[in-house]
Amino acid sequence: MGKIDFLSIADFGREELDLILDLAATLKEAWRAGRSEPRLSGKTLALIFHKPSLRTRVSFEVGVGQLGGRGLYITDAEIGFGKRESVHDIAQVLSRYVDGIMIRTFRQSDVAEMAKHASVPVINGLTDAEHPCQILSDLFTLREKGVALDGMRIAWIGDGNNVAKSWIDATLAYEIELRLACPEGYHPDEKAVEQARTSGKGKVEIFDRPEEAIKGARAIYVDTWTSMGQEEEAELRRRAFAGYTLDRRLLGLAGEDALVLHCLPAHRGEEITDEVMDGPQSVVFDQAENRMHLQKGILVHCMAAGGGRP
Ligand code: CP
Ligand code: NVA
Repeated sequence: MGKIDFLSIADFGREELDLILDLAATLKEAWRAGRSEPRLSGKTLALIFHKPSLRTRVSFEVGVGQLGGRGLYITDAEIGFGKRESVHDIAQVLSRYVDGIMIRTFRQSDVAEMAKHASVPVINGLTDAEHPCQILSDLFTLREKGVALDGMRIAWIGDGNNVAKSWIDATLAYEIELRLACPEGYHPDEKAVEQARTSGKGKVEIFDRPEEAIKGARAIYVDTWTSMGQEEEAELRRRAFAGYTLDRRLLGLAGEDALVLHCLPAHRGEEITDEVMDGPQSVVFDQAENRMHLQKGILVHCMAAGGGRP
């Protein structure tokens, strides 16, 4: 059996995704009960970051420690990704030292290149195109809140960005009804939408207005209007996304049992108001917590002896 990389939700079938979700639930339960699960004892995970991070960095680093392994944080200042040294050579060298590589970078193709040349598992910790760990973790949070993933209607309000793309990928495996409201010019990746529509189990619809997308939603998801690397466009984007703020008025159109999700970091007062983010329907901090439990599931699935494909 070959190594298991975690590059995209689209690479995984339902059975394997469910297995990781179940593994994360087992590990979370053990953590709550104070039982140690040293399933990665003696193993090292390299954590390469070319963009900032709070959740992904801390949850992977603490998570691998809880599994008996260690995390090694590396920034581009050290390795000069693709400049000081080629992705090919970095992958080969790191594979001689560590047992897994998590990478957050700009291009999805660089992550794929890293996976191709590394002999150890590679995990995508966010690219400009995708954020698969986040979405698997969010599926975990929703499931934990008692939401049945099959048949769930979720509204995406905002930029059709990397996080949106991974949500679209989730409809390949689950019967999720995903309703995206994105302004003109900020629609999601067309190929991903096409793939979801032709071979997915769920349904993907795109709306012009958030008021349309949010109707009947069991969950509502927002993300920043200006992703990492797009800071120079912030003002332009503030104008383009006017009317896309998740506030009490908009949330009221979804119903009282709708859950509010945000991958964070949030720009309070832009894509979400304080009132909604700190309100009773918000599960954003549970989402953040669950990143750690889910990353542990991914790590054990990809890196542990006894982990692996169903
Ligand atoms: N949601 C998320 O990935 O957060 P960080 O950018 O802080 O890792
Ligand atoms: N879309 C955001 C997600 C942050 C976790 C970004 O790429 O900055």
